[in-house]
Amino acid sequence: MSKFKKGLEGIIALETEISYIDGEKGILEYRGHRIEKLAELSYEEVVHLLLYDKLPNTEELNEFFNKTKVIRELDVRTKEVIHYHNFNIEAMDALMTALAHISQGDPDLNVNTPEANIRKALRLIAKAPTIVAYYQRIHEGKEIVKPNELLPHCSNFLYMLRGEVPTKLESKILDLDFILSTEHELNASTFAVRVTASTLSDIHSAVISGIGTLKGVLHGGARLAVMNMLDEIGSPKKTEEYIMNMINTKQRIMGFGHRVYRVVDPRANIFRDLAKKIAEEKKDMKWYDMATKIEEVVTRELVEKQGKPIYMNVDFYSGVIYKYLEIPPKLATAIFALGRITGWLAHAMEQYSDNRLIRPRAKYIGEHHSQDKEISKLTKD
Ligand code: CMC
Repeated sequence: MSKFKKGLEGIIALETEISYIDGEKGILEYRGHRIEKLAELSYEEVVHLLLYDKLPNTEELNEFFNKTKVIRELDVRTKEVIHYHNFNIEAMDALMTALAHISQGDPDLNVNTPEANIRKALRLIAKAPTIVAYYQRIHEGKEIVKPNELLPHCSNFLYMLRGEVPTKLESKILDLDFILSTEHELNASTFAVRVTASTLSDIHSAVISGIGTLKGVLHGGARLAVMNMLDEIGSPKKTEEYIMNMINTKQRIMGFGHRVYRVVDPRANIFRDLAKKIAEEKKDMKWYDMATKIEEVVTRELVEKQGKPIYMNVDFYSGVIYKYLEIPPKLATAIFALGRITGWLAHAMEQYSDNRLIRPRAKYIGEHHSQDKEISKLTKD
């Protein structure tokens, strides 16, 4: 049997054409395109790239937009499910529950062809933001705001969430958030998606596996933890003491560290610039100043003094940006899922296209009992 690596660290589990990471140089590409270039596009263009392996021309982009904008609304029964459950469950659980419900009404329910999976993928991408926005509105005791067909994907989500059309900068920031969050090779949730798809289970189930995995605090849940940490610190003046206390008591600083990157996560650099822009537009530097202070202390103490490669990751400044967008912290992980869903779908389809069941081995470290004796004793007793 091959050598055991806890957490599958560094193990190549499969081949992919969807994304490439160089963790030493801080390079991330989707389908061969650098993330810094993709950050100049719209989320819809990146979705097209991931699903169809092609950047769309104007005609293809319009066709894609026209197809998806009309399928954002939910059916009456799914809305009832959200109404019924929303006070007892968190946003990520609401998303899983509503998607499980939607899958049962999907016109391609039992069809697993590439064409059916693309149709299902578009429906999932279009409807998932509506679930999260309706969940939040109902949770706040407000009227739901129906999807607006005139708005692009991300602006429409903010519109449904807040009941007003967002500013240009806010829309651009959420677009970027979705672009930077949508794909990241074989992260834990994408691996879960591929394992589920490899059993030839349906694409909705694969996505639901991804949501359940993203929820954890070591993965997508770190964004919520970053927002909570900023709230708890409260002001730039208290930041140094707070972080030093965490470091001295050996606690993990959320939004820092990564299994693959040994330098700063390239997405985090883009997010840092964005956080500064929105802080300046809102004339409120508080969250940005706290974040730069946290980064300074962690770099000084953990990277420079202790020599550990614990740099900021994608979740750090995205948590800061959500503060400026006034996104309720409890929605942070669900919004990550809304961006990541496209990457999951691309991976599920890639898995189906050249499938082999994913089934690794475990090294048994328990005892080997002389079962015969024990069992015969039991039967005697
Ligand atoms: N703060 C303080 N110390 C840390 C941190 C951190 N955020 N991350 C790792 N370390 C230390 C850890 O204590 C250990 O030290 P030592 O060798 O002295 O025991 C060393 O670094 C290696 O840690 P590890 O747990 O073996 O590293 P890993 O590759 O298993 O963990 C990680 C990766 C992301 C789970 C971890 O860095 C972490 O817990 N970060 C905080 C949570 C977080 O921000 N998660 C989002 C990850 S990026 C988005 C995504 O892909 O979902």
